[in-house]
Amino acid sequence: MRKWARFFYQPCLPLGEDGRRVTGQKAHIALSEKAAAEGMVLLKNEDGVLPFSFGKKVAVFGKACADYVKGGGGSGDVTVEYTTSLLDGLRAKEQEGKVKLLAELGAFYEENVQRQYGQGVQPGMTEEPEIPQELLARAANFTDTAIVTICRFSGEGWDRTIMDENGQKDNGMDNVPEDCDEILRRCLQVFERGDFYLSAAEERMIETVQEHFAHVVAVLNVGGMVDTVWIKNSERIQGALLAWQGGMEGGMAAADILCGDVNPSGKLADTFAAKLTDYPSSANFHESESYVEYTEDIYVGYRYFETLAQSAVVYPFGFGLSYTDFEIAFQKADESETQITVDAVVTNTGARAGKEVVQLYVRAPQGRLGKPERELKAFAKTRLLQPGEMQLVRLTVKKDALASYDDSGKVEKNAWVLEAGTYCFHLGNSVRSAVEIPYQYVCAADIVLEKTGSKCAPVLLHKRMLADGSMETLEVHPELQPDLSYDAEALGAFAPGSVAQEPELLWGGPKKEPVISLEDVYEKRATAAEFMAQLTDEELVRLLCGQPNTGVANTYGMGNLPKYGVPNVMTEDGPAGVRINRECGVCTTAFPCATLLACTWNEELVEQVGAAGAREAKENNIGIWLTPAMNIHRSPLCGRNFEYYSEDPLIAGKMGAAMVRGIQSQGIAASAKHFACNNKETNRKDSDSRVSERALREIYLKGFEIVVKEADPWTIMTSYNIINGHRASANKELLTGILRGEWGFKGMVTTDWWNFAEQHEEIKAGNDVKMGCGFPERTMAALQRGDLERKDLEACVQRVLEMIMKLDV
Ligand code: BGC
Repeated sequence: MRKWARFFYQPCLPLGEDGRRVTGQKAHIALSEKAAAEGMVLLKNEDGVLPFSFGKKVAVFGKACADYVKGGGGSGDVTVEYTTSLLDGLRAKEQEGKVKLLAELGAFYEENVQRQYGQGVQPGMTEEPEIPQELLARAANFTDTAIVTICRFSGEGWDRTIMDENGQKDNGMDNVPEDCDEILRRCLQVFERGDFYLSAAEERMIETVQEHFAHVVAVLNVGGMVDTVWIKNSERIQGALLAWQGGMEGGMAAADILCGDVNPSGKLADTFAAKLTDYPSSANFHESESYVEYTEDIYVGYRYFETLAQSAVVYPFGFGLSYTDFEIAFQKADESETQITVDAVVTNTGARAGKEVVQLYVRAPQGRLGKPERELKAFAKTRLLQPGEMQLVRLTVKKDALASYDDSGKVEKNAWVLEAGTYCFHLGNSVRSAVEIPYQYVCAADIVLEKTGSKCAPVLLHKRMLADGSMETLEVHPELQPDLSYDAEALGAFAPGSVAQEPELLWGGPKKEPVISLEDVYEKRATAAEFMAQLTDEELVRLLCGQPNTGVANTYGMGNLPKYGVPNVMTEDGPAGVRINRECGVCTTAFPCATLLACTWNEELVEQVGAAGAREAKENNIGIWLTPAMNIHRSPLCGRNFEYYSEDPLIAGKMGAAMVRGIQSQGIAASAKHFACNNKETNRKDSDSRVSERALREIYLKGFEIVVKEADPWTIMTSYNIINGHRASANKELLTGILRGEWGFKGMVTTDWWNFAEQHEEIKAGNDVKMGCGFPERTMAALQRGDLERKDLEACVQRVLEMIMKLDV
């Protein structure tokens, strides 16, 4: 097949065996279910309530048993043929005799939820109905064991809600896009205290069930952190499964675990704290629509809780139960000049086969910079270990990875430094239970590893947290805050237009001048410089602008210079599956949300998900899958957390890298997004993330750095937001300085879709393509004004061409 034939001709060419389609195929759906079951986290299991004994009679309560939320909303949504609710999953198990359900109870919830859907309510936003008294009595007669279910939905463009100190809902409502307005209003109506907490109706349902049943299991179908105090503190709630938003087969995967067909091995990739206000980022999350001050600095997630607020934690980072027991025994540690290896033996000491996750945390010396009590430095998941079976696990930590970033000059200004002192290591299966090993790395004197110079420094961050919880006052420089006004009308959300082509005489005319095609460059018959030399300025600019959709794509393409053999390469959204608009009639596989995938701690499995999604993209003639989403779970309030992996940059980086490896193994480009600090949805296109250089380097950029260095994504998408006064897409220090200069990124950079920056400023900063639509006329005008030179265009075009040449479709 000719290179790029899929892009040029949009053929209908299934990729599966014997001409079958891979899009939404059974094998991918089975992989989705497998991944879902592997990332669900068993939070509580007392008196052996789980797994249910064979044929157990169970009464299932809560509308969430039928109102299944497969993932979040917005660009992360996926069009699927069907989804499996918990009720569907348990009914399948009932067919196998594994459980027995009270049919009329299920029917009650299903009818109720269908009625609410019929009224236009979205999954996850339905109201919890009262349980009819007689039904409750019959259920209590039927069994002493109940399940209570809770679900939550959130999406792109809006954040979750919080109560302020006056009991008012504080949600940045004024700047919510019109299309999100209704859903946010609904959310406020259904969840009186904000959707982190149970609604009054849910509370009543759970209390009623606890009064009538001796054994209760909670199942949470959620995309982010929620209140779990009610689970932890209840004697009646003996079991709890954090089932996340598990993709199209999430209900089946949860049933697999509840019935013991799968032994849970998911571990939390976030800290579950008692109250929303326990997270240090909650206090000023909605303080302003135009900025967020990241005052907790590097003390994000468990870095904060383990250092300063241990008692606020309900379920700690890394935690998750199994139906078997494991022993993790330290064997030995070795140190070379550059790295440390720790060997541990994991033994399954229980009675069921299962998998365990071994986690290695460092406690770095406080030094002058101050450090969190614990930082995850390595992890490994075992294979499925049979009872009595052992596995030797080796964890490797590069010494450089123990460094801190000094932005204050306490050791060496704007440098990565290893401070002198003793680095202790803790090994175990959660941040809380990990125990110190008899090995320490002693650093005799401060080591300056890399001087970076100051990049992306804050100008309006007033203070930041130190290791003892006190706040360091920072100097602010309002005079350095650039003017960020923009021409809102001109930079609107346009769909890219088509360029008219003059009629061309096909044969019989004078001989035409041959052109150098992109294929000539690919085949090394010409250089990229020679190729670009024949293009007009307009043609170069066109290569830096989003191009019209073809085929089933809905997020536009890039390239599209047919005269020179440059295909129009389509993009399509992720990350939970390839998102094709419903009206195309193509259903794809919805994989579990990214947060669940992170909780698998299984890079190999995530790589398989990436490869499967990429095959679906390719079959649909898409070249760039807008996946993975890498932002940090700074706050439970961020409406898009479900698309992101973790509060920890190592997990986010490793999972993102696995996804990228899987995607690109299929010849499809991954797009690691949103670079960087898109940790809030409210007014996301015009909100300034004010953050120290240290927190940027150690937390918010770290995951991207890992992805770039370990998996070489062919594209990166910048974020909408402003970072310390500069829009991410026009931030030269970020894109040319850090991403390309320091990390050696060789790929191409796009904007997020319809952001607010001027294209010529982006081009100069190193952001190559403006999506969904560029502004060729404005960019040409900048060229004519001298604000841009042809060589600036060529630098970006070269990277676009290189990206297209990597695609193998
Ligand atoms: C989102 C991106 C997405 C893009 C294209 C934007 O609104 O932030 O994550 O890839 O749209 O749909």
